[in-house]
Amino acid sequence: MTADLGHILEYWDREDVESMYDKHLLNAEIELIRRRLAPGLKILDAGCGEGEGTLAYSMLPGAKVHAVDFSATRLRKAAACVAGRDNVTFQQVDFLKPYRLDRDFDAIVSQRFLINLPAWELQGRVLLELMDHLKPGGRLLILEGSQPGVDELNGFRAACGLEPIPVKWHNLFFDDEVLVAFMRERGHPLAEVDGLGAYFLLTRGVRPLLDAKLDWNCEFNRRAAAPAVESALRLGARFSRLKLWVFRK
Ligand SMILES: C[S@@+](CC[C@H](N)C(=O)[O-])C[C@H]1O[C@@H](n2cnc3c(N)ncnc32)[C@H](O)[C@@H]1O
Repeated sequence: MTADLGHILEYWDREDVESMYDKHLLNAEIELIRRRLAPGLKILDAGCGEGEGTLAYSMLPGAKVHAVDFSATRLRKAAACVAGRDNVTFQQVDFLKPYRLDRDFDAIVSQRFLINLPAWELQGRVLLELMDHLKPGGRLLILEGSQPGVDELNGFRAACGLEPIPVKWHNLFFDDEVLVAFMRERGHPLAEVDGLGAYFLLTRGVRPLLDAKLDWNCEFNRRAAAPAVESALRLGARFSRLKLWVFRK
């Protein structure tokens, strides 16, 4: 079923909604992106939400970050999150309506934003528009949902007798092969793909076997999020519901 656009904005305008409840995952996502950003870049944070990523990217030396979102509530929360930093600007932008943005960004980050566009045609259109706003040689870094990643993780869960984890009503995850082929055919070959496979496998595959209580902030998740755990298991994009794809202009 395709989610309705009005309901998606209504959802993101709610005060009580958080973009990511699992803060260990949020921080691991941010770190996956941040370590690919050099100092001194002009960065667009598309669909910035409450601004945790915006804040982290703005702390890179010499960075300038323009953070945009269609929800006034998200923008207000993001502004509070980065309060006191003068290298961050905000703008209310709905990527499905006419908008104006600079076209000379060094890097554009989309962190779980594109999965909120309720049809592949819309996601593809906005992907190409984001590429248009990069300077030559710039990079689009999208940390987004992967349906094959969901299926792989759910396959592991099924083997352990666990129920599948569904994709939320307001999200549409990417088909990895369709995404990469679409971009390649339009002159944007994939530069890199990565993921947080160890964290997903441990927290969504193993921990539920030991403790049925959902507690994102538990010690197990904190330890599972350590970069050393990912380095030891080297799962990368495997079992990863969210993947980082990097495309260069
Ligand atoms: C899952 S949140 C991610 C927020 C943030 N990037 C993060 O990583 O926590 C998705 C964000 O995309 C924004 N969004 C959804 N559809 C949008 C649209 N059409 N135009 C601009 N922003 C949109 C929502 O308001 C929300 O803040």
